[in-house]
This record gives sequence, C-alpha cells and structure tokens, in this order.
Amino acid sequence: MKPRGREVLRVKRLFKTFGSVPACRAVSFSLRQGEVLGIVGESGSGKSTLLRCLAGRIQPDDGTVLIASDDYVVDLWAMDEASREQFVPTTVSLIHQNPRDGLRLEISAGGNIAEPLMAAGGRHYGSLRATALEWLEKVDIDGRRIDDLPEVFSGGMQQRLQIARGLATHPRLVLMDEPTGGLDVSVQAKLLDLLRSLVLELGIAVVVVTHDIGVARLLADRLMVMQRGRVIEEGLTDQVLDDPHHPYTQLLVSSVLHV
Ligand SMILES: Nc1ncnc2c1ncn2[C@@H]1O[C@H](COP(=O)(O)OP(=O)(O)OP(=O)(O)O)[C@@H](O)[C@H]1O
Ligand SMILES: [Mg+2]
Repeated sequence: MKPRGREVLRVKRLFKTFGSVPACRAVSFSLRQGEVLGIVGESGSGKSTLLRCLAGRIQPDDGTVLIASDDYVVDLWAMDEASREQFVPTTVSLIHQNPRDGLRLEISAGGNIAEPLMAAGGRHYGSLRATALEWLEKVDIDGRRIDDLPEVFSGGMQQRLQIARGLATHPRLVLMDEPTGGLDVSVQAKLLDLLRSLVLELGIAVVVVTHDIGVARLLADRLMVMQRGRVIEEGLTDQVLDDPHHPYTQLLVSSVLHV
C-alpha cells in the first residue's frame, strides 16, 4: 500500500436536496494526500452533486466540507463567497466527464494550461509556455500542438488536455466525474495509467466517480458505494469488490447490473 500523507478532505454529514429529491443524505468521509477514493452508484444516486458540493459549485443544505493543508484548515461553506472563489481554483480541481465542459474551447491548448496558472499568480510568458509544454508532454500530447485549439483534438486528447489544465496548478484535491466515460478501451487504459502515475508523482488526493468497476479497481484505494443519496458501503476497494455486503453492491459486482 502507498504511504499516506496528511488528511486533505473531511466531509461531515453533508445534505443536499433539490425540491423533493434528496441528492445527498448524511454523506461523511475523509481523504488523505496520495489517496484515491472511488465513488460508484446507480444513476441519480448523488455522485455528481456530492462532487459539486466539494468543488464549491453547489452549496449543501447542511454539513461541513473541511479542506486542509500543512498550515490551514478551511471550512469551505462557512467562508464568505469572495474568499471561497479565491480559494477553490488554486486548491480544488474538478475534471468533468465531458472535457468540453472543463476546457476553454476558444483558446489554444497551451492557453488552456496557462490560464489557471495565471489565475494562481503566474505572469512570465516564457515560463508559462514552458510549463504548458511540459504538461502537454506529461499527458502525451505532441508539443507542436500547443497553439492548436482543443476543438481540433480527438475526444481522448481533449480529456488529457483537461487533466493537464486541472493538475498544472498542483491542486491539493482533484475531483473527477467519470473521467474515462465515453472513451474507447485503449484510450481509457492509457489515461488510467497516466492518472495513477500523476497521483503518485504529485501526492494529490483524488475523488473519482465512475460507473466502471474496472476503473474503480485500477484507480481507487478505497471505494464508496452510493444509493439514493446515501453511502451504503465503503472500504478498501478490493474488500468491497471481493466481499460486498450490501445487496446493491453485490448486484453491482456480480456484473448483472451494468449501470
Ligand atoms: N440542479 C438540479 N436541479 C434539480 N435536481 C437535480 C439537480 N442536480 C441533480 N439533481 C437531482 O439529484 C439527484 C442526484 O443527481 P446527480 O447528478 O448527483 O446523480 P449522479 O449519481 O451523478 O447520476 P449519474 O450517474 O447519472 O451522473 C437526481 O435525482 C437528479 O435529478
Ligand atoms: Mg453524475
């Protein structure tokens, strides 16, 4: 098992309801540096809602989201809006299932990586471009494409570019919503390898939502299973998948159910 760092995220009894639909009900968990938490669960079970609450995008009705570094602990939803808007982009990165939602399509690939770096205080053109090149290389995109618009990239390349954009600022916490959905199997496998090596290299904390048990097994150290807004099972990934206790998890891993 990988050595674990400090606790980065602690979620306490998070609730979010849309009208009469309870999307998250009393969700609690914590996450350490270098750790990957997988979330699986049926469609509509509240996975994306949970990620949005953690990413500062949707305010929960109740509960606490604590994000910690070596020298601070921030209560995400207790801080004022201006402070949150400043804090989140440099600390938390949300990777969308559809890369087009996480990219700026009208600026170049290099610009997509440089933009969050500039928001975090980067100013020097030469070093921004050098960092962008480095990241293109890391995610296996030819550096000569640096001035191309993401529009002309394939779906897999766009997803790799989104990951580069999301990780270049070295966020402490990375939230991924179905990062490999919609990609063909060989592209998926390469992307998973890349994600695993980046997690190890950067020591980030990752929450990854996936419909795919194979992705969960490859990527996640721990697994949380959600159903109708509740966490119904959680534990080490191998334990949960090899010895599922809840009937829904049993159904999920028996591969009768392909959600
Ligand atoms: N902005 C919203 N307004 C109203 N209802 C919403 C909103 N966002 C989510 N919901 C509802 O909350 C519930 C949880 O949705 P959510 O998108 O979090 O599920 P999910 O687990 O991500 O599903 P999927 O696997 O299909 O992406 C659903 O019933 C959904 O219809
Ligand atoms: Mg979702």
